[in-house]
Amino acid sequence: MGAVMRKLKLSKAFTLMESGPVVLVTTNDGKKDNIMTISWTMVLDFTPAFALTTGEWNYSFAALRKNKECVIAIPTVDMLDKVVGIGTCSGTDTDKFSKFKLTPVQGKVVRSPLIKECLANIECRVIDIVKRHNIVVLAGVAAYVDTARKEKRTVHAVGDGTFIVDGRRIDRRKMMASKIPFGA
Ligand SMILES: Cc1cc2nc3c(=O)[nH]c(=O)nc-3n(C[C@H](O)[C@H](O)[C@H](O)COP(=O)(O)O)c2cc1C
Repeated sequence: MGAVMRKLKLSKAFTLMESGPVVLVTTNDGKKDNIMTISWTMVLDFTPAFALTTGEWNYSFAALRKNKECVIAIPTVDMLDKVVGIGTCSGTDTDKFSKFKLTPVQGKVVRSPLIKECLANIECRVIDIVKRHNIVVLAGVAAYVDTARKEKRTVHAVGDGTFIVDGRRIDRRKMMASKIPFGA
């Protein structure tokens, strides 16, 4: 007998598709630096272009719309409490860099800061905002990785307040060679 496919509430279907990793997005509105937590992201192509879902309900959005740039910073599992803290308070009344003891670092292209404590950072320009679906489309313009960092595991948000930590890495580089632009 096969397993039974039980009905899942449609309102929970997104938890099956939660991608990751959870990222931090920094902005600067001309007055101060800010950070928000974003789990709804996707890679659009190899150029690289990315998309994230956010909108006017976040303080960061005004800066994204006005200055058309941000940094995607990739935190690791040891930073999870900071990541959740950053995503549950607002730049309207909080200096998140100081509250969460994170260090802003000037990038090369955009004014939004990199986060020194993160595993990696991507400087991005906002190239489109699809208002109807609250999608912000980004073009990566520079990227950095902290190669000395020991903890490299990122976290993935399920969407119900729980998180999944990166696990085993499996190598299929040979099989994928024709699909990977930089080769196997
Ligand atoms: C784990 C986690 C994931 C989140 N993902 C998103 C997201 O994908 N899109 C979004 O608009 N807000 C998301 N948020 C909420 C924002 O991070 C939150 O509203 C934040 O306070 C916005 O900061 P700001 O008002 O300073 O811009 C998430 C929060 C947490 C804790």
